[in-house]
Amino acid sequence: MKRSEFLKKSLAAGAGACMLGSVESCSIFDDPEMKVCAVADIEAVPFLVSRFNRKQIFLTYLDGELTIFSLICRHKKCTVEWEERDEEFVCPCHDGRYDRTGQVIDGPPPGPLHRYRYEIRNDEIWVLNEFL
Ligand code: FES
Repeated sequence: MKRSEFLKKSLAAGAGACMLGSVESCSIFDDPEMKVCAVADIEAVPFLVSRFNRKQIFLTYLDGELTIFSLICRHKKCTVEWEERDEEFVCPCHDGRYDRTGQVIDGPPPGPLHRYRYEIRNDEIWVLNEFL
């Protein structure tokens, strides 16, 4: 099989899988990395919410270390929300709750929120498409 033929078939298979499954499973189209913001941007606020590969991410400092959470619930992949008052991430689908470090404190999620790897390049934060 020629390389171009292989690529066409691979892309067609990936697109088919995406049409059958959720957007979560479309990793063939995911960006390997993305510049999120300048380091100074996150230092000026308690947290930032952005998007990476069609999913929300949450940037904050935990014990002085920059942490980038995926806001996708580990149960059924709903998007969790940060509740400042209780300092918890809350999932609107089945009331799963995570503490500020992403650990499950209540509800059905089977594990903590994923944390993305990142790199600082020229005082800019780059999120990588890999979990820690
Ligand atoms: Fe989040 Fe069920 S999807 S608790």
